[in-house]
Formats: sequence, structure tokens, C-alpha cells
Amino acid sequence: MSEAVEQREEEQTEEIDLEPANRVIDKFIDMPGNLMPVLQGVQDEYGYIPRIAADLIAERLNVYPSQIYGVLTFYAQFHLKPRGRFIIRVCVGTACHVQGATRIVETFYDKLGIGHAETTPDLRYTFEKVACLGACGMAPLAMVNDATYGSMTVQKVEEIINDYNQRPLKSGK
Ligand code: FES
Repeated sequence: MSEAVEQREEEQTEEIDLEPANRVIDKFIDMPGNLMPVLQGVQDEYGYIPRIAADLIAERLNVYPSQIYGVLTFYAQFHLKPRGRFIIRVCVGTACHVQGATRIVETFYDKLGIGHAETTPDLRYTFEKVACLGACGMAPLAMVNDATYGSMTVQKVEEIINDYNQRPLKSGK
């Protein structure tokens, strides 16, 4: 089953307020080449592109839904599934690998109960292995949203999870 179809099924039970998507479309509707800014704006609003919002964009910008899904699947920056409030990234580049990144990744898998590119059911965490983050001197390196954590250890993984478990799920936007 394709991701788009799975997504469709998941959302049937979910209420999505389309007002933020309509606001983004209104802002760019008369601009030539508006598809990318609209998709980026909608993703900023929801954290991903809900299927029903993609259909709305197709209808209001007068483009085929297949064209929208083509763009969404081509560009890695777009997400068709809901993402966690906290995006945990662990670098598996060479310097971090040599300094034990595999153990850090496995500890996150174990503690969060999810794997690479997965999201916890409560939408608190998404976990991703990533290539060099450009701070090899701090290897092994992890990030949670924009916060950087260097010289990672198994104990630090536990501290990070304990810390972020206490934080509110809403961003307060
Ligand atoms: S290899 Fe991990 S930050 Fe460069």
C-alpha cells in the first residue's frame, strides 16, 4: 500500500481545520509559480501536508492532485505523515560513527520504541538518522529540534528523553 493511500485511511477519522491552509493559499493565489510557497506554508502550519489540504490546494490552484503528490514525494522536505513535536536527529556521519553513534541510535530506538523516520503514536517524537551535521568536533552528535547535544553518551540519551518528556506537546503557536 502506498504512503499516500495509508495516509488517506489514517485521516478519515481525523478532523482537519482547513482555515490555515486557505489562509496560506489566499496569500499566494495570484503569484506565478505559487505551488512551492503554498506547500511550504501549509506544511509550516500543520507540520506536514494533510491529504485533505493537498486536495484543497489542487482545487484552488487548479492543478492536478497527481502533480501535487509528485512534488510532495520528490522533495524530501515535505512530509505526508504527521511529525513529532520534537524531531530527534542523530548524526551517523564518519566522525560520529567512529565515536559510537550506533550505540546512541540504538539507545534512542530502545527508549522511544520507534526506528528511523518513525514517529511515536502520541506525536511527541520523530527520530531520524542523518548525515554529517557539520560539528564533527562534538561527535557523537544529536539534535532535538534546533538544540545541539555533543559528546553523546547512553546516559545523555536518557537525560534528553526525561527532559523532553516533561515538555508540553503544544508549541504554543
Ligand atoms: S560526522 Fe557527525 S557532525 Fe560530522
